[in-house]
Amino acid sequence: MPAKSRLSIDEVRHRLADAASVVVLTGAGISAESGVPTYRGTGGLWKNFRAQDLATLEAFDRDPALVWGWYRNRRRALLDCKPNPAHRALAAAAVNPERELIVITQNIDGLHTIAGLADPLEIHGNIWREKCVRCRHRVDRTADYTARRVPAEDAPPPKCPGCDDLLRPDVVWFGEQLDPLLLDSAFRAAEACDVMLVVGTSCEVHPAALIPLVARKAGACLVEINLEPTPLTERCDASLFAPAGQTVPELFG
Ligand code: APR
Repeated sequence: MPAKSRLSIDEVRHRLADAASVVVLTGAGISAESGVPTYRGTGGLWKNFRAQDLATLEAFDRDPALVWGWYRNRRRALLDCKPNPAHRALAAAAVNPERELIVITQNIDGLHTIAGLADPLEIHGNIWREKCVRCRHRVDRTADYTARRVPAEDAPPPKCPGCDDLLRPDVVWFGEQLDPLLLDSAFRAAEACDVMLVVGTSCEVHPAALIPLVARKAGACLVEINLEPTPLTERCDASLFAPAGQTVPELFG
């Protein structure tokens, strides 16, 4: 088995500087230094809650007020979570006219948008957006983050301004399909990029975990930034085991 060609951080920096197209897949780890709990690390979110009680359509149909209470609690916790240097470095790198940079995120915390990144592909949705259960009307509540305004947990679930039916969090729940158009854009971006960075994800959840493999198969340079090895590590050209908040700015600095 030939020794893996492992690129140094400087070599990765040069690849990124020379790239015409860069795609960044992010997971909960990019927001960990902002204080947002990860899902599977120590103290991960799901360790404290039974997902099937809260993050499913059945749970919402059964008790929309309970599910809204939890999401309002999560929104309130996010009010003190600010974008960190990793979010800001990606937002700054994305405005370089010489190089396309697309961020695909599994995170629903909205911190890429709040950091100023335009149009991240939020394949699992966004906790600050709501959609009608009937007419699919969408409401963006990102301004509530800025205004630090979150309704009380026991306030009635919000209603659609269009048809007056219930609004639900615009996030992908367990057992639900991802938006096929978003997913198609993500896979197409992965197929076309020169470099793919995979930042702060355990690569355990599909179909997101397939995106780096599509990039690799299409010939992209694959670089992982994580605190620990993942199932993707052995397929990467480089694995940078260090906090995203320190490493991502170094790569684009
Ligand atoms: N810098 C870089 N990586 C980090 C950091 C950090 N500061 N802190 C944690 N990590 C890494 C962890 O080592 C772990 O590999 O981030 C990863 C977080 O993994 P998960 O908690 O599994 O989160 P994620 O991969 O985003 O989960 C994917 O699972 O439950 C679903 O919908 C949910 O979007 C989520 C999906």
